[in-house]
Amino acid sequence: MIGLVEGWSSLALDHLPVGLLIIDREGFIRGINQVLTGLIGLKRDQVTGLPLEEIIGAGQTGSNKLLQTLASGREFQHLMPEDVVPGISSNDYSTSTHCVRDKSELIMGAMALFTPLGRQQELEKAVIKAEKLALLGQLATEMVHEIRNPLTTINGFLQLLQRDLKGTPGEEYINLMLTEMVRVNGLIKQFLQLSRPGYSKRKLYSLNELMNDIFLLVESEALHRKLDIRLVTAPDIPPILGDNEQLKQAFLNIIKNAFDALSVGGKLCMQTLWNNHEKFIQTIITDTGVGMDEQTIANMLHPFFTTKESGTGLGMLISKKIIDNHGGQINIQSEPGKGTTVTVLLPVVY
Ligand SMILES: Nc1ncnc2c1ncn2[C@@H]1O[C@H](COP(=O)(O)OP(=O)(O)OP(=O)(O)O)[C@@H](O)[C@H]1O
Ligand SMILES: [Mg+2]
Repeated sequence: MIGLVEGWSSLALDHLPVGLLIIDREGFIRGINQVLTGLIGLKRDQVTGLPLEEIIGAGQTGSNKLLQTLASGREFQHLMPEDVVPGISSNDYSTSTHCVRDKSELIMGAMALFTPLGRQQELEKAVIKAEKLALLGQLATEMVHEIRNPLTTINGFLQLLQRDLKGTPGEEYINLMLTEMVRVNGLIKQFLQLSRPGYSKRKLYSLNELMNDIFLLVESEALHRKLDIRLVTAPDIPPILGDNEQLKQAFLNIIKNAFDALSVGGKLCMQTLWNNHEKFIQTIITDTGVGMDEQTIANMLHPFFTTKESGTGLGMLISKKIIDNHGGQINIQSEPGKGTTVTVLLPVVY
């Protein structure tokens, strides 16, 4: 910097990560740092001592914000760089103007700062996007909630019509509508589950007991489908802290997928594992079903991704969200034609 600052201060100002331009009371350039000379493509001694007007062009003095600051004392934020000097991209820099005052607060000059947007802008954009998404999510949840009431009415009347139209050609259409209604209701239920906040009823639970309950729930369905289902629990497992109902839901979604993948004679094994050195209890759910290719594995946690005619594509996402909320992890291994292993890790309480 020449004129206003010397020595160490000059060195420091040259290495500031912002461009700096200082004009005196008459509008002559008295200081410009290295960042700014680099940006406007002029050497320091080419511009120092020149009136700002010579760089911006005589026609621009009225609208120049740095000259306005000098004249009125009004400071500006979030300007385009070209509001002060030409030739700097507004995508990369944001500009502000400030008064330079003496001890008695009289305006001695004015300065402009050119701050790189880069990372800060990225962060600001990310925050805005996250806020927008959160708002959209909230609106969607409220809307889906509201859709439920008219659907219940439609469902009720469809059931009445089904009775009236029994044996007529219209019966088939009503049945089709009711089937679709079941699908829409399932979708709504899953969606609302997904948008529910984290777990609320935290208690100490035995994972083995939870798996026993789940086994009893699915056993008859497995027998009906002629599947070979078994549960192997490790002894003396320490308790986990969590929401029993939500964890049950998470495991049921995984087991339901295994059921869907299995055909008659297929095997489904649920197993809990634990050893003293580990901080996590493992629950391994293995099926000998159709398995998944790499692309399906990569997509299976995306919302609404499904390969099933009547799937909503939210089951695994809900399971993952619940397990994440419990500080756990979910790992999936699968091979087409051989089957799938889903491993859920949940932290234990000592
Ligand atoms: N055990 C499994 N074996 C084979 N494919 C599976 C298995 N688990 C998940 N998938 C695949 O991942 C996809 C997404 O599963 P997800 O549970 O999220 O949705 P869905 O089962 O299709 O529908 P729903 O929301 O009703 O559960 C499934 O459509 C299926 O292609
Ligand atoms: Mg599923």
